[in-house]
Amino acid sequence: MRLSDISSTAEVKIPQDPMLQIIGQDAAVKIGRIVGKQRRHLLLVGPPGTGKSMLAQAIASTLPKPTQEVLVLHNPEKPERPLIEVRTYPSSKKSARQQTQPASQILDPTQVPSFVAEKLGFRCRRCARISSPDASVCFFCGADKYRKIKGPFDDLIVGPGAFEREDRVHTTRIVNGKEELIVFERRGNAIALLTQRELSKLAELERKTQFKVLLPLNRPNFVQATGASETELLGDVRHDPYGSHPTIGSLPYTRVVPGAVHEAHEGVLFIDELSSLGRLQRFLLTAMQEKKYPISGRNQSSTGSSVRVDGVPADFILVAAVNFNDVSHILPPLRSRILGNGYEVLMNSYMEDSEENRLKLVQFLAQEIVRDGRIPHADAGAIEEMIALAKRRAKEIDGVNGLSLRLRMLAGTIKMAGDLAISEGRNLITAEDVRFAIQHSRPIEEQASEKYGSWYKASLSDFELKKERSGSEVA
Ligand SMILES: Nc1ncnc2c1ncn2[C@@H]1O[C@H](COP(=O)(O)OP(=O)(O)OP(=O)(O)O)[C@@H](O)[C@H]1O
Ligand SMILES: [Mg+2]
Repeated sequence: MRLSDISSTAEVKIPQDPMLQIIGQDAAVKIGRIVGKQRRHLLLVGPPGTGKSMLAQAIASTLPKPTQEVLVLHNPEKPERPLIEVRTYPSSKKSARQQTQPASQILDPTQVPSFVAEKLGFRCRRCARISSPDASVCFFCGADKYRKIKGPFDDLIVGPGAFEREDRVHTTRIVNGKEELIVFERRGNAIALLTQRELSKLAELERKTQFKVLLPLNRPNFVQATGASETELLGDVRHDPYGSHPTIGSLPYTRVVPGAVHEAHEGVLFIDELSSLGRLQRFLLTAMQEKKYPISGRNQSSTGSSVRVDGVPADFILVAAVNFNDVSHILPPLRSRILGNGYEVLMNSYMEDSEENRLKLVQFLAQEIVRDGRIPHADAGAIEEMIALAKRRAKEIDGVNGLSLRLRMLAGTIKMAGDLAISEGRNLITAEDVRFAIQHSRPIEEQASEKYGSWYKASLSDFELKKERSGSEVA
């Protein structure tokens, strides 16, 4: 395909492969493919809007789906040290776990012995009528059906003689001349009757279900961490106001939350502005060395702080991005860790001005338009205008003859031109639209210096205006 043959971006084929959608960064893309295949780390250095985030995502797209499901288990001997279990599935077979409640007979409150209906909170002890087990006071006669436990200490304060609502009532019945243990259990507004067999099934199920899926099998293999907090990066054990209170407190394992280093297990952990991580870089380094990282409560005053889970898998590919000026703020051991097991790549900020590269720029325009989904395609005139813009930007910013690869900026211009075309009812973006967009998508500093001569004068005129106003108010 030749540039002169193209009458609109609608004719351009957009590659399916996210790697091939990245233009002008051939070396970075080549290394990106290696990084995915060999599970190495990657540091991307370069100016904003040149495709660093895009490449990180493209690398993740080349990875196979996770094959490990990570569970956190209740530890009956030591609840504040929950255990980790890793289940590896052959890539095709999905979770084999299936939970079914054992079948049981469901009864109406009138079908059970009255003392059972009373204990479960259905039946009034005074007037014998049935009402919702959630109401502690009888709807008909106003008597207390049971005492509600509101706070963590009410069970201590409520004196003897007060009756509590029970969730289960154990009793016996005679079947075929034999006595059998049975349990009535409240289930919403009904009652389940569980026999010995069902009970032992339930007990087994409960023993087995004392776990939580920490990292599901179907998790995404791209995770971005901002480094805004330690918790986000390393996980946490949530606070429980009731601590380990036996009836209303929650078990520690249920409060374990994974961090980005865990969520990225088997995938890509992308960290933008690596240097802004500051001291957190050290933890990242540890995780990369160990391929696991413990999760503990990070708030000292929280009940979570006594909980720790060891050996949580964190085997990720680190892709980190940084501006050229911040390279020196990366922790040296972390950087050598990346270099020792990966690559550092400098992103291009421009490419040579050739027919081939101009075609790539057109592919980029088509991609942006299709991805945006709200704007029409660009005609030949608009394409020409955008190429001229890329040339100008390369000259202005990088001082070279070439085509700029600071593509976020160009993407902004084409979208603005598209908005204009749409709002005026045209079904193609024209050169005119692009020129308008260029005029109005310039940074505010540039607009102001055109209007006032310089940024300084513009701020001065603001100041004068204020003075004038306040002056007139006084007068
Ligand atoms: N090399 C490229 N090829 C195609 N499109 C690109 C390229 N670089 C940037 N873009 C476009 O610009 C957008 C921004 O790119 P991206 O977020 O990858 O930049 P970045 O280098 O991560 O910038 P920053 O340093 O500001 O985070 C992309 O979503 C894409 O639309
Ligand atoms: Mg980015």
